[in-house]
Amino acid sequence: MRLTDLHLEEFRTYRRLALTVPPAGLRIFGRNASGKTSLLEAVYLLATMRSPRASSEREVIHWESGTELGLPPYARVAATVRHNRHESAIEVVLALEDEQAALRKRVKLDGRPRRAVDAVGTLKVVLFTPDDLNLVLGPPSVRRRYLDVTLSQIDSTYLHALSQYGRLLEQRNSLLKELGARRPHDERAVEDQLAYWDAELVTRGAYLLAQRLRYVQRLDDAAAREFEALARTGDRIGLRYEPTVTLPETLRERVVSATLVDAQSFVARALESDLHRLRQDELRRGVTLVGPHRDDLRILLGGHDLSAFGSRGQQRIAVIAMRLAELTQVVETTGERPVLLLDDVLSELDPEHQERLRSALGGAGCQILITATDRALLDRPGLAALPLVEARRGELVWVDADDPSGRANSG
Ligand SMILES: Nc1ncnc2c1ncn2[C@@H]1O[C@H](COP(=O)(O)OP(=O)(O)OP(=O)(O)O)[C@@H](O)[C@H]1O
Ligand SMILES: [Mg+2]
Repeated sequence: MRLTDLHLEEFRTYRRLALTVPPAGLRIFGRNASGKTSLLEAVYLLATMRSPRASSEREVIHWESGTELGLPPYARVAATVRHNRHESAIEVVLALEDEQAALRKRVKLDGRPRRAVDAVGTLKVVLFTPDDLNLVLGPPSVRRRYLDVTLSQIDSTYLHALSQYGRLLEQRNSLLKELGARRPHDERAVEDQLAYWDAELVTRGAYLLAQRLRYVQRLDDAAAREFEALARTGDRIGLRYEPTVTLPETLRERVVSATLVDAQSFVARALESDLHRLRQDELRRGVTLVGPHRDDLRILLGGHDLSAFGSRGQQRIAVIAMRLAELTQVVETTGERPVLLLDDVLSELDPEHQERLRSALGGAGCQILITATDRALLDRPGLAALPLVEARRGELVWVDADDPSGRANSG
């Protein structure tokens, strides 16, 4: 799949931008704060319905949006996506309808209003950013999100289960707090009240868990291959899902080899029995102690924990391998080639690894949007054929690639 047109209004530094995206993609260079990351952020938002960096989504709305005409501030991103046989139009508007109101997110697919969850995955992307180092160094939530973002793009059932699970968890936790505060417990009443929430939570949780376990199994092989191709040291990178639910090795093997329906029911039984076992603890603490919301993904290099023992360079190469592995999984499960977004990742690597990454990208057959502050990093085999633009605070200027002075032509 590929983007053919991209429109931004009042998005970060871009007050208005209409961009025809070439089939192969674009190289984007520009000084710091020129709008490179913002452009990729907008594309990522169209794919996932979330910003990869904004802690609050209202941050993406241009500071002066609406002020001239006294209208409510908003940001709009829209694109046309070309699939194998058809096109789709996606649009996201974020609006602050009045001062106190929460941010409203309106999503349209082919001109018709849709829920955000129903638009995720229409455009598929894989984003590489220097922040990916947090996959190794950050808290488990970063790694859970790494799994969730891809699984949500390739499996809409997963995304729905995830959003329901989040709501159920909140409701169950507040019930646990309420029941835990009542003393002495009436055991029967407690069980009766929790039964419904447990059952709902287990159904969704088991789906999430089964899919994550199966996905990580495939990802592990793919990441090892990609890492070997980039690093060529013979050390194997390994990814291992670490569930909070009690899951003996034999059961884990059955979950990855059985049908999805069977896998889900194996995991559901394990979750149910742990919820029972932890009942008193959960009531005392007022939180759900087991389930996919507390799990982690371990990243190993040569059998050792990469966060503790890897060099910074190895960690960077490992996360790039994890992103390339994500790409292979999207292609294998959906048959579609996602758009690759690479934000300033080359400058973090030594020349040899830069070269290997460029050649991996060149061979991926995907549309690529890649940024750098230094144009020279983009002027190399593997990428040199991509059209070039310079980002200049809120606009993009086409550059004739044959012009070594880098002088911009009109446009
Ligand atoms: N809501 C907003 N309204 C207007 N401008 C904004 C908004 N949010 C961010 N900016 C500005 O947008 C500019 C571009 O930021 P961006 O992160 O896209 O730059 P960049 O080219 O990726 O820079 P770097 O090379 O430093 O990573 C920054 O100067 C920032 O202050
Ligand atoms: Mg940037």
